[in-house]
Amino acid sequence: MDYLQIEGPTKLSGSVEIAGAKNAALPLIAMTLLASNEVTINNIPNVVDIKTLLKLLENLGATVDIKNNSVKVDTCCLTNTKATYDIVKTMRASILVLGPLLARFGHCEVSLPGGCAIGQRPIDLHLKALEQMGAEISIEAGYVLAKAPNGLKGAHIVFDKITVTGTANIVMAAALAKGKTIITNAALEPEVVQLCQVLKSSGISIDGIGTTELIIYGTDRRLVEIAPFSVIPDRIEAGTYLCAAAITNSEVTVKKVRADHLEALISKLEQMGFTLDITPDTITLKPAKQIKAIDVTTQEFPGFPTDMQAQFLTLCTQATGVSIIEERLFENRFMHVSELQRLGASIKLKGNSATIAGKIDLVGADVMATDLRASSALVLAALVAEGTTNVHRIYHLDRGYEGLEKKLQKLGAKIKRLKE
Ligand code: UD1
Repeated sequence: MDYLQIEGPTKLSGSVEIAGAKNAALPLIAMTLLASNEVTINNIPNVVDIKTLLKLLENLGATVDIKNNSVKVDTCCLTNTKATYDIVKTMRASILVLGPLLARFGHCEVSLPGGCAIGQRPIDLHLKALEQMGAEISIEAGYVLAKAPNGLKGAHIVFDKITVTGTANIVMAAALAKGKTIITNAALEPEVVQLCQVLKSSGISIDGIGTTELIIYGTDRRLVEIAPFSVIPDRIEAGTYLCAAAITNSEVTVKKVRADHLEALISKLEQMGFTLDITPDTITLKPAKQIKAIDVTTQEFPGFPTDMQAQFLTLCTQATGVSIIEERLFENRFMHVSELQRLGASIKLKGNSATIAGKIDLVGADVMATDLRASSALVLAALVAEGTTNVHRIYHLDRGYEGLEKKLQKLGAKIKRLKE
């Protein structure tokens, strides 16, 4: 197993290019199940989660051809509709194949994803919505068995909670359903918006893109022709490098980004005393005279993303004063706190709220990554911790960050990948 060894403290400088968004690429890859043609997707991030979903599609009988950061996926000749446990258990987002498989074939079996380090993460809202569209769903031997022999029918879906992959799943199901589907309380995340935009440019009529109410007119199982397109930049990767610049109080430029996807984060960094220079596709963070403490509450887009909570909490250890971070989306997303405490951080947890006292001089230690974003938070802490920090179990990191150690090395970090 690999681990990362980081020597700190360090200053960073220079620029880093941001990859395509993992969370946009995943539904867009699942969307190829709706296509009548071979689909070319550019700006695909080279990360494990993407490979996992492509492997799942290959297991279903799709042909997949990856070159650099482009992939061609052809789902014309699928031979089976069963997404098996061995793949789904490694990545919950595999559930994204449920809606399109069911809509296209009228039946499928998808393993239940099971638990996850950051909380329960049920899929009840996905299933309820598909039932409203006429699906018969049962759970047998750990699998969701879904049937809609006469195809799915348009319906009015009102999500009780905003769900990102739930919205994406139902948008894809609705695209091939018969008639009109209305999704009320739809997710506004840029990744969902891109999915809708690509489907729209492929001939699916969708109103309300980028709003909380989506109206989708289905094709009644007619597959659509999807032209080549590029995945939007990864706002969480960009945010993580902005936090790397901030925690080391350095000047760094992130390139190939969309600042309009990062407004909540940019505003918090400005409140902490950093200056941000923004161009149409770059953001430069400039050091603060003094890093100020801050309060953050995670929310759905356009609010502050839960996927940036761990990194921001770590940044708060270097701010002067007391910061409070409230996690509203996932009940167990503070696993990084006990690891940060091993580095000397002063953090108190109460329910879904963390109180962070700064500024603390962190000291290097061995720490364990617990989930994807928590792992990057530990790397950020290691950049300012005195001495050597070893971050173990970085397979979590590899799920979602393309070439993290190479990008950080280029910015001047003393970081290397070693074998246990
Ligand atoms: C997606 C992102 C993940 C991000 C999360 C929240 C992908 C691949 N993953 O995850 O990185 O952290 O959005 O921004 O895009 N819920 C239910 N029932 C359901 C579905 C969700 O109760 O059927 C709850 C969840 O437990 C959670 C909340 O709704 O509390 C939001 O979850 P959701 O938006 O569905 O997260 P994901 O789509 O799994």
